Order: sequence, then C-alpha cells, then structure tokens
Amino acid sequence: MAASVAPAPSLKFSLLPSQGSNLVATCGLSWRQQERRSRRMAGRVAITSKLELKPPPYPMDALEPHMSKETFEYHWGKHHRAYVDNLNKQIDGTDFENMSLGDVVVVTYNKGDVLPAFNNAAQAWNHEFFWESMKPGGGGKPSGELLKLIERDFGSFEKFVQEFKAAASTQFGSGWAWLVYKANRLDVENAVNPIPSEEDKKLVVVKSPNAVNPLVWDYDPLLTIDVWEHAYYLDFQNRRPDYISTFMEKLVSWEAVNARLEAAKARASKREEEDEMKKREEGDIGDSQPVEMYVDGDGQDDDSDD
Ligand SMILES: [Fe+2]
Repeated sequence: MAASVAPAPSLKFSLLPSQGSNLVATCGLSWRQQERRSRRMAGRVAITSKLELKPPPYPMDALEPHMSKETFEYHWGKHHRAYVDNLNKQIDGTDFENMSLGDVVVVTYNKGDVLPAFNNAAQAWNHEFFWESMKPGGGGKPSGELLKLIERDFGSFEKFVQEFKAAASTQFGSGWAWLVYKANRLDVENAVNPIPSEEDKKLVVVKSPNAVNPLVWDYDPLLTIDVWEHAYYLDFQNRRPDYISTFMEKLVSWEAVNARLEAAKARASKREEEDEMKKREEGDIGDSQPVEMYVDGDGQDDDSDD
C-alpha cells in the first residue's frame, strides 16, 4: 500500500538571530545572566539581564613586565568597564537585553549603518576576547594542527607573524588586528565579505577600524590584538610596533587560539550539515512532486502498545 505524504513545509530561516547564536557559542562568550534582578514595578515583576564585567583570566600584574599592572588597571578597569556600563544603560528595557552579546554585535552592525549600541557592544566583546587571547608566559609558537594550518595558509609561521604585525601596525587610528577562520560564503547578508574568495576553511589575517570585529563578516575570530592607543601608551608611548612584537613574542595564548579553532571547525561542519539538509528540503519542494512513503501491511503501527 502506498500513501502520499505532502511535502514538509518550507522552513523559514532568520539569518541574523541564528547566525549570532552560533557565533556566540563558537567564541564561548555569553551574556552574563547570573545577575538577573527582579524589580517590582506597578505590581508586576520585571526580569532583566545585565552584562557583567568579567574579571581577566589572570591577576592584573600577571603579564608584567610585558604589560604593566598600571596599563591593565586602566584598560580593563576603566575602558572595558565603561563599554559594559554604557551598553547596559543603552539596552535597558529593550529587546537587546534578552539577546547574547554576540547577537547584539551582529544585529546592531546593521550592514554597516550601525545602531547606537554597536560600539559599546562590540568593544565589550572585543576586550573580553582580547584578555583571553593572552596568558602569563605566552608567546612562542603554536603546535599541532594549528601550526599546520598556519603553514598551509601563510607559507610559514614566520610569514604569518609578519602579516599579523603588518595588519596591526598599519591599522590607521584605533582598531584591531585579527587571525580568523574563514569558513563562510561571500555574502552573509549582514555585510559584504571584505576578502572575496571562493576558498573556504582557511586562516586569514584581517584588521578592523574602531569597534568593528569579524563577527559581522561571519568569520570566526581566533586571535586579536587591541591597537587603540589606550592599549599600549603607558608602556610603549607611541611605539606601537614594539607593543605588537611583545604581544606576539611574550603574551599570545596559543592554547586559546587552538581551542577557538576547534570550535570554529565544529561550527563550520554543523552549518554544512544544515545547508545540505536545507538544499534537500528545497529540492523536494522545488520539483512540486509529493513525497511517496511506502508502508508495509495495512498501515497500522506495529510498535503500538495498544
Ligand atoms: Fe582597548
């Protein structure tokens, strides 16, 4: 007996929310919801989420002599704190309160026509990522698959370092330099990919102005350096190249980069599976043919406990 089953309804995909959620999962950063607070307003309880200023993953003097405690206290304690405090004020009582920080960054980028909360949201995200890109006793050279990919995509580790340093030192004014995993297609609807290429699944160095970060281009950030002047002026004055060299040679946490690479690859694989499933569904719908399901016997469920 053959039974005709109508095609499954088309799934509607909303790019930005799902994209943002994946990104947040990839980067291991989440909206700090521990500090939920209840407020009694006009007889009703309103629940709000608040972004917390996460402490650095090491003591403030742990990166000395390469990054001074004084720099850290100003950079984390004043600059990073201000981004978080200002963002909390900007999104208080809005829908953004219930979104992950990564989602807020991507949505407020708004295809380059940024919304007011973008700068504080992106800077909050960037700084947390930056602190976790370093560790006491860092620097040196990565190993394993990360090193192999660097050698494959840049020619050698030394050439990668050269390219990363060049990006960081030539970013005009304030901004960031990044090592990213590029697994995306050309147009992610939120912004035109700045490095058009048919080649996916590769490591790329990019730089970004002001608060912009690679989440908005759908890249997976693996490593970043803050090249705003506040990041290095107390220790290096205007010698940005010396700060960049010190970061690469003494501070980079390759363990963090490696963990982020693993997460990025997992996200890429998951997205490929979802894309494949979507293509199959669209193909089924596109030929307008009903899907036939063949059922043995009289169609009753043999596994029924009735
Ligand atoms: Fe900074």
